[in-house]
Amino acid sequence: MNDFDYLGEGEVYLDAACQSLRPRPVIDALNQYYTKHNSCGERVKYKWGKVTDEKVEATREKVLKFLKLSARKYTVSFTLNTTYGINLILSQIKANKFKKVMTSEIEHNSPFLATMAFSERTGLPREVMKRNDDGSIEVSAYDFSDAVVVINCASNFDGRKLLNIKEITKAVHKAGGIIIIDAAQAMAHSANILRGVEVDAVCFSAHKLYAPSLGVIVWHDDLMKLMIDGFIGGGMVDDVKESSYLLSAEGKEHRYTRFESGLQAWGEIVALGVALDWLEKLPKSAWNNLENNTATLYNFLSSSKKLHLVNKEANPTMSFYVEGLDSHLLGEALSREGIMARTGYFCAHYYLDHVLGLPPLIRFSLGLHNRSNDIEKVKTILNKII
Ligand SMILES: Cc1ncc(COP(=O)(O)O)c(C=O)c1O
Repeated sequence: MNDFDYLGEGEVYLDAACQSLRPRPVIDALNQYYTKHNSCGERVKYKWGKVTDEKVEATREKVLKFLKLSARKYTVSFTLNTTYGINLILSQIKANKFKKVMTSEIEHNSPFLATMAFSERTGLPREVMKRNDDGSIEVSAYDFSDAVVVINCASNFDGRKLLNIKEITKAVHKAGGIIIIDAAQAMAHSANILRGVEVDAVCFSAHKLYAPSLGVIVWHDDLMKLMIDGFIGGGMVDDVKESSYLLSAEGKEHRYTRFESGLQAWGEIVALGVALDWLEKLPKSAWNNLENNTATLYNFLSSSKKLHLVNKEANPTMSFYVEGLDSHLLGEALSREGIMARTGYFCAHYYLDHVLGLPPLIRFSLGLHNRSNDIEKVKTILNKII
């Protein structure tokens, strides 16, 4: 695709699950911010600031539109990344409102560790739920009474999805709990299952969504009632007295400031808006290309006897190991051929190492930038090595 024309001949980037490559319009938007309207958002009265304000506001609207959530109920706040967003929420949740915290076995360390820290801080018990092979959760097997549930919507090693997200959200709410979704992996290629589902918060990383490095929290306005003011400062208040303050977030208009302490990454926020436009306008052929590349690579990987795939079905993110071959060495060998893939446990140590007992793995994660000859090259090189 022309929007990734900077990719050199023979360079095969297979690490989109970590950071997607940024298409030209996104890089251009970032440059434009720095060269045409570099300014602090939401504070300045000069012309450049007004341009920034308009674009930042538009990005908030586009995020809600992308997720099919209503501005009447939801607010979009910007942070550093998914990890930061989840911790920002959990570190401020009032302990006396809940009875336990729940997560699942296939989580990235981001929610997995944050729920441990939450349990330690609050003294509330923590429960780790099982996930089915298709990524769903057996809702009837769990008691969600007054629980804080933090789970992913798509895994970062095989892309399996929380297929029954609607059912689990309903069950959690009915039992008086809240549900926070780690959508880091879902946003780029599986956002459909998340759209319109009224969870309490969605945290994701724009850098996995063809946008610059940035975190996003999309949160239900009721969440504020459940939080202490634990992380506050500049940009968040309407008035301050010697020993008291009035949060701007008390009014709907500036509610987003509740999670936005200090100056934000304005250029990155603006460019996220451009990434969302870019995704919306993508021709069907671009998605077909990703689907075909995924199927071709998955079929190839699953046909080799010496190669053990974690995936039970095709997904742009796939992990495996090759019998008798150290994955880190294999990763280096691939790198010498221009193929960029990840090795190890991808911050999912608990499940991959301690539940499945697997050796370190290789992860290929495809994106919209991949060309069909990337896949052919991977097949040729892997055949040669194996
Ligand atoms: C499912 C999942 N959750 C959370 C994260 C953490 O994202 P970040 O490092 O951007 O905070 C990742 C990163 O790979 C992820 O894949």
